[in-house]
Amino acid sequence: MPADTGIEGRDQAPSEVRVAGEVEELERRFQELVDADQRIEPRDWMPEGYRRTLIRQIAQHAHSEIIGMQPEGNWITRAPSLKRKAILLAKVQDEGGHGIYLYSAAETLGVSRDELVDLLHSGRQKYSSIFNYPTLTWADVGAIGWLVDGAAITNQIPLCRCSYGPYGRAMVRICKEESFHQRQGYDILYTLARGTPRQREMAQDAVNRWWWPSLMMFGPPDEASQHSAQSMAWGIKRHSNDELRQRFVDVTVPQAEVLGLSLPDPEIRWNEDRGHYDFGPIDWDELRRVVSGDGPCNRQRMAHKVAAHENGRWVREAALAYEAKLEAGYKRGARASGRAA
Ligand code: 3HC
Repeated sequence: MPADTGIEGRDQAPSEVRVAGEVEELERRFQELVDADQRIEPRDWMPEGYRRTLIRQIAQHAHSEIIGMQPEGNWITRAPSLKRKAILLAKVQDEGGHGIYLYSAAETLGVSRDELVDLLHSGRQKYSSIFNYPTLTWADVGAIGWLVDGAAITNQIPLCRCSYGPYGRAMVRICKEESFHQRQGYDILYTLARGTPRQREMAQDAVNRWWWPSLMMFGPPDEASQHSAQSMAWGIKRHSNDELRQRFVDVTVPQAEVLGLSLPDPEIRWNEDRGHYDFGPIDWDELRRVVSGDGPCNRQRMAHKVAAHENGRWVREAALAYEAKLEAGYKRGARASGRAA
């Protein structure tokens, strides 16, 4: 089922009107390319549902990166040392950069960044559930890096092989930066876990609060994931939500042991037969509530985002006016040199 992106279907130019049977042939060739692991590029023909699904996912991903700057940005002025502050600043700036690459990737599908931002602000597009939780202590910055960025990498490494070229290529750089983010979070928790009893307690409390929301980031369970089957057939997603969630649990449990922190799930244990860690049930009602706007910080995140956009209006207008002035200057210069010649 084509996703509702809030984006209208693309009008076909007269030269694009297809004769009967031609669309089927195009679809067949498109699927052959995807099945052969070839990349689809912006100039290539693609089914409208594929284009809309990509716009939905890439826009949601871009919005998540931008909104994701808020929970950690909250700690920049309160980082415990100059070094930690510099690292956190760089990290939050990276997230902004990821948002920009992703909006650019979405623009290759015939939609503008302004349209996507409007769709977010009007509540017609989403961002990740995870960024609707508060960052109560410095240890939350560590838990976000280790768990949230860890979950993001697990989900995003397969997206480097996404069938759509601009998205896959953007993900390569994003994943490299995310792996630095994950290490900085792990380093913060490692330090706190070996600090005073109060610091250790703070680290454990942060892990307790971020563990379950990190598992929810992977999306609903496979049987409730309405887009997975089609997205996998189109080579957008390479693995199901549950497969990636399991992969994340499997790599994270041994890391928690090295940290000396526990995960807040008494049901986690190695299952020899499955070759995976078992874990307890996820509260899917909580995910539904947070995604539908009723998480702890949804209203605050959106209000801050919209206010920042409005407050930056004059900067965008000034940049456009400056560009127009430069362009007029070039044109005058070109006319003058034309006359001289
Ligand atoms: N938060 C909010 N909405 C979610 C969600 C989540 N964690 N998980 C799923 N959903 C939504 C889907 O968008 C879809 O709603 P829609 O039809 O209105 O768009 C619905 O729930 C059903 O889910 P599906 O499993 O059918 O949806 P998808 O096939 O799109 O899978 C996904 C969901 C796995 C999140 C996939 O979209 C994806 O891989 N996206 C790219 C990665 C991404 O966006 N990550 C967000 C975090 S970015 C980040 O973490 C930044 C870093 O710096 C920390």
